[in-house]
Amino acid sequence: MSREINTVGVVGLGTMGAGIVEVFARSGIDVVAVEVAEAALDRGQATLVGSIDRAVAKGKLTPEERDEIFARVGFAVGFEALHDVDLVIEAVPEQLPLKQRIFAELDRVCKPDAILATNTSSLSVTEISVATSRPNQVIGVHFFNPAPVMKLVEIVRTVVTAADVVADVEALCARLGKTDVTINDRAGFIANALLFGYLNQAVSMLEARYATREDIDAAMRLGCGLPMGPLALMDLIGIDTAYEILDTMYRRGGRDRRHAPVPLIKQMVTAGLLGRKTGRGFYTYEGPGSPKVV
Ligand code: 3HC
Repeated sequence: MSREINTVGVVGLGTMGAGIVEVFARSGIDVVAVEVAEAALDRGQATLVGSIDRAVAKGKLTPEERDEIFARVGFAVGFEALHDVDLVIEAVPEQLPLKQRIFAELDRVCKPDAILATNTSSLSVTEISVATSRPNQVIGVHFFNPAPVMKLVEIVRTVVTAADVVADVEALCARLGKTDVTINDRAGFIANALLFGYLNQAVSMLEARYATREDIDAAMRLGCGLPMGPLALMDLIGIDTAYEILDTMYRRGGRDRRHAPVPLIKQMVTAGLLGRKTGRGFYTYEGPGSPKVV
């Protein structure tokens, strides 16, 4: 039986969560955006406002459309605000115990037929689903960064995800103007399973002083036609997120050496060089989210 999805909840308003809120609101769907603390909520709201205002400044949206988009988004601290949504997407950091705690809480708060989705990029959707009393209504819905721009969504079904839940999420992706691929629950799904060995290898080249960061990135942009080089892409993804994904894929994927995080990545995380979001990663940025300086 298919459900109507009129209102969605988004939990976690970091880079991905804020982008996902924007995708829904721009597609005419009401969103309840939730964080655990006021400061994080403010940061998420500022990301959304900045992105929509840039689109208005470029003439891609009218001021009236901007107002309509903002009117569709409600911001709240705490999960209780999600009691009436039809689907929730969780987009918090890639830590299994944290996600399991959140899903137990969502299971308690959300209405019985609500779909509970995770934007995890490498953790087991199955292990997240068993924290709830409704694993058949739990699914992976994996967006790519920047969510408003990238066209793909990976839909991850577990061995118990109900067929109607998969169908409802596929229909939702079509409303968002996204192309979906549906896969089983395996570390890294399709895209990250292929991408992250390459990103790790690029850092390894830099660490060995085999080539400069500029030359590594230029080789892949100009030689292979990719929109960004691997090191600039890691700055976009976030070095901490990249580390967590590699580490999980290494442990879940049979300890494949290609996914063993290169030591430099961990060192950068420890030093707080997290990429664009902190203003410095492999490159330096004018400020969080702004263009490269050096
Ligand atoms: N939010 C919203 N819109 C954004 C944006 C953001 N963060 N960043 C860029 N855009 C929009 C711009 O506004 C612009 O829109 P317009 O065409 O309507 O004016 C458009 O994207 C192009 O942006 P720019 O002109 O500023 O710059 P580029 O042409 O260089 O494109 C890019 C930027 C889209 C980021 C492009 O470089 C790109 O596609 N890079 C590769 C990104 C990628 O590989 N992502 C996947 C990462 S892996 C992942 O996410 C998985 C996860 O699990 C880690």
